[in-house]
Amino acid sequence: MSDRYLSTLEEVATLRDELSRRGEKLVLTNGVFDVLHVGHVRYLKEAAALGDALVVAINGDASVRELKGPGRPVNSAEDRAEMLCALECVDRVVVFEERRASGVIEAIRPHVYTKGGDYTPDSLIDEEKAILDRLGVEIRILSLVPGKSTSATLAKLAGDSGEKTPRIAILGSGKGSNARAIIEATGDGRLGADVAVVMSDVPGSGILEVAESCGIPALVIDPGTEKGGQLTDAALKEMLDRLKSLGVDLIACAGFMRILRDPLLSAFPGRILNIHPSLLPQYPGLNAVRRALAEGERETGCTVHLVDVGVDTGRILKQARVGIRDGDTEESLTARIHEAEHRIYAEVIAEVLGVG
Ligand code: GAR
Repeated sequence: MSDRYLSTLEEVATLRDELSRRGEKLVLTNGVFDVLHVGHVRYLKEAAALGDALVVAINGDASVRELKGPGRPVNSAEDRAEMLCALECVDRVVVFEERRASGVIEAIRPHVYTKGGDYTPDSLIDEEKAILDRLGVEIRILSLVPGKSTSATLAKLAGDSGEKTPRIAILGSGKGSNARAIIEATGDGRLGADVAVVMSDVPGSGILEVAESCGIPALVIDPGTEKGGQLTDAALKEMLDRLKSLGVDLIACAGFMRILRDPLLSAFPGRILNIHPSLLPQYPGLNAVRRALAEGERETGCTVHLVDVGVDTGRILKQARVGIRDGDTEESLTARIHEAEHRIYAEVIAEVLGVG
């Protein structure tokens, strides 16, 4: 292992003390960082901006094999360290041989500790969380870049060589025109994925008929509450069990008029999308088209965004603008918004899955 690219824990601990004396902050993150991609770079830049020096702790090769399987790492710890050190935002790299970062955190005592967005402070490993809390370290969870992941990169490299085609679940409560557009995009090759299932909380809804007419499994989920009410825990569990057993990779909400929450949200980090008929953050919630018209807007549109715990509040991935014409009715405007929705939704799904 070349010393040029690697620091020892002692050296980093000394750096930490120097920074502390100057009232500055050391930021620590850890991971494998095998197959470096732009998602890593953006994540590391964001982490570096939280303090004055960024230290990246990478797992040694033996622990990567244990964590990720016999084919990994693709790049040795030495090579990974060299690439990371070449990034302007990275100040030091250390290698640790254990599966967990607890020892590194304890030795370095960072001011800030960051993790990628598929974690929440509660999903950090208990042992790591206990040490961070004891040391009074600020924990920051940074969002991941959809579609820019190691798994998406490796899937692209694997091409068609036996890799599984990504599987989409569509959730909806209404007519299902977006579901039809997504299913058609998978059929004509614009979207390199399969629709594994369509789920609806409304028995007899158009979206279920669309699925059946296209030969896609259509499932009614009993929401356990009246229209618009919270899904019960039992309904969420049923959905999650079904999605897992079908090997679903991405959930596309298309007119699904229920709010999703954990454990569903954390089971598909960065992989639950929604389409909404407005230029969010304008007009979230119900009757978005009607309200835009009533406000006398000259322009509205549609938004594809990640789903979080709020109502239409997650990170925006793509928008399309639709002009409002004199004499437009809710119906005529909705029809033009639908055209835009049908175009952009499949495009975004392809991007997030890395099959675009
Ligand atoms: C779509 O216009 C979608 O934007 C909207 O429901 C419609 C479903 O149409 N979603 C929301 O309002 C979510 N807040 P569809 O059933 O024909 O696809």
